[in-house]
Amino acid sequence: MIKGKRVGIVGAGNVGSTVAYSLAMLGSCHEIILRDNKIEIARGKALDMSQAAAAVRSHTVVGVAETMAEMTDCDVVVVTAGSPRLPGMSRDDLLMINAKVTRDVIEGIAKYSPNAIVIMVSNPLDAMTYVALKESGFDRSRVIGMAGVLDSSRMAAFIQEKLGYGGGQIRASVMGGHGDDMVPLPRYSTVAGVPLSDVLTTDEIDEIVQRTRKGGAEIVALLQTGSAYYAPAKSTAIMVEAILKDTKQIHPCAVYLEGEYGFSDVVSGVPVMLGANGAEKIIEVTLDDNEKAMFAKSCASVQSLIDTLHTNHFFEGVQS
Ligand code: 2OP
Repeated sequence: MIKGKRVGIVGAGNVGSTVAYSLAMLGSCHEIILRDNKIEIARGKALDMSQAAAAVRSHTVVGVAETMAEMTDCDVVVVTAGSPRLPGMSRDDLLMINAKVTRDVIEGIAKYSPNAIVIMVSNPLDAMTYVALKESGFDRSRVIGMAGVLDSSRMAAFIQEKLGYGGGQIRASVMGGHGDDMVPLPRYSTVAGVPLSDVLTTDEIDEIVQRTRKGGAEIVALLQTGSAYYAPAKSTAIMVEAILKDTKQIHPCAVYLEGEYGFSDVVSGVPVMLGANGAEKIIEVTLDDNEKAMFAKSCASVQSLIDTLHTNHFFEGVQS
């Protein structure tokens, strides 16, 4: 069989299947392989999407892997698998459960798609990216978390809503972890190059910053039965496309820091250049003292999750 670009997606829930749908509609790759424990549902979604691809004359075929062993030779693997927080479950419980899910999935990827670039989407995002990196033994350029693209898109949408104009011309910038301590950067956000401070008041900008930080929770409260998936999935698909097409574009992504911004052995969201080799370059933006303090606070929150994993002996036996 002729080998074209192949994308694996682990977890065919709302986010995973919407990533697949987005890529299939764009014809971004030759083949998408969905993997989910609910195999019949994955099969149904794969068939449905292959038919949608045929409708738009896209060459992408969507298939299913019954086990990780069938997810071979992928160029990119997106990991959305994980448990949602259930009643009675603490954040730490969720952390340990999803860390174990991530470990199992990564073991399969390392074995059957050893050259893949891994995009982590499971929550808590930055900690799961850390787990994926340590468990895979891959170079840090090949394990990348999706969050900054999503958080920046949310901020851009809120700026547009507040202004009432400028749609499609807004560049918003968010760094840091994907949590309440994320670091929206109004100073680096513009409408067609016009600084936010020239078109919005300080209070309006502050409102946008706070709403961005709680952007995921706002949608959970409305949906009641789950969390956002259109924007998370599209943000993931944008990263997959940048890698498959080797665009060398800059996107905010969660990566393992080795001294950048003064932090090491932690994952946080920073601007990176995406290309065929994954996160090919980490860009160091000049931050003022206030922004530095917010970034440090965000890194500390991620660090506390990593510390919990260590306290629970999660990494014992893993070569790092
Ligand atoms: C979000 O921000 C739940 O991380 C997901 O929508």
